[in-house]
Amino acid sequence: MASTRTPAKFFSPLAIGAPEPYRALPVKLERMIHFVPPHNEKIRAKIKELASQVDVVLGNLEDAVPLDQKENARKGFIQMVRDNDFGATGVWTRINCLNSPWVLDDVTEIVANVGNKLDVIMLPKVEGPWDINYLDQLLAQLEAKHGVKKPILIHAILETAEGVNNVEAIAAASPRMHGMSLGPADLAASRGMKTTRVGGGHPDYGVLADAQKDNPSAARPFYQQDLWHYTVGKMVDACLAYGLKPFYGPFGDFSDLAACEAQFRNAFLQGCLGAWSLHPTQIEIAKRVFSPDPAEVKFAKRILDAMPDGTGAVMLDGKMQDDATWKQAKVIVDLAKIVASKDAERAALYGDL
Ligand code: GLV
Ligand code: MG
Repeated sequence: MASTRTPAKFFSPLAIGAPEPYRALPVKLERMIHFVPPHNEKIRAKIKELASQVDVVLGNLEDAVPLDQKENARKGFIQMVRDNDFGATGVWTRINCLNSPWVLDDVTEIVANVGNKLDVIMLPKVEGPWDINYLDQLLAQLEAKHGVKKPILIHAILETAEGVNNVEAIAAASPRMHGMSLGPADLAASRGMKTTRVGGGHPDYGVLADAQKDNPSAARPFYQQDLWHYTVGKMVDACLAYGLKPFYGPFGDFSDLAACEAQFRNAFLQGCLGAWSLHPTQIEIAKRVFSPDPAEVKFAKRILDAMPDGTGAVMLDGKMQDDATWKQAKVIVDLAKIVASKDAERAALYGDL
């Protein structure tokens, strides 16, 4: 017996009166998902200003919110969404995980009160497609009940060993899937990694160069490696195979801006479209990293111009271009167009696209 819906039913609403699922994700710039603690009144008061500086504002209800503030965080988020016009900036929330006592009220109260302004729900600690299916059905029922006009999307955090094992089935679970973020802190714990960090590298994880044959006692360079390379690669393949968006998650060392930038850039080069910003300094880093480099955009544009129908082979500055590099160039120019549509500063650097 088939365990998934038929293709025809896959795109039908899961409740009578719920909006039709998207067949392709809406085009949105999401270079950083900026986390705010919605129980903090001072931060809520600054949301309007913040919303003009970031691509996505996320009200965090899960980890980092103290137990006695869980209800206030949910109420504060609803208030914050009601009180502000976010324009083109995305409105997301990270709800509590599915086995918590708060999640049912998180979902029901938020959809009832601000369902029409909410773009994406970030679901933590997703272990398999069953978690997505549960939230999918519940959201459809609530959308129908409250007359929500467009589908609220689901973004899964990849932060358990079981979730990584099931990453493809999670990506395939529903047309409501927006994408995924790496959750390096929970994932490290779940996997039994021997670290105490939130993302980034580790000084002991690396490769020692061979000893020199003619000078065996000479110092041997040790090259630190990217601890997250495997998981990010696996997540990118699962996401792109299903038309979803992959993101690097949090980088917890706010004092090390260079390491944050290096980690974000690895993720960008591997295919990710954004990362979380947990501190204001990380907003500019994410803008810099997840907007394609102007020189790279200009070269990509030259490739597209040199091969108008995307076929054949040409040489540019001594480098061979063909159908495949044309496709790479198109990825960069298409992204630059999305960036330029929201970010005037970068639009000026890119010129005609
Ligand atoms: C994020 O939630 C993480 O666990 O890294
Ligand atoms: Mg986590």
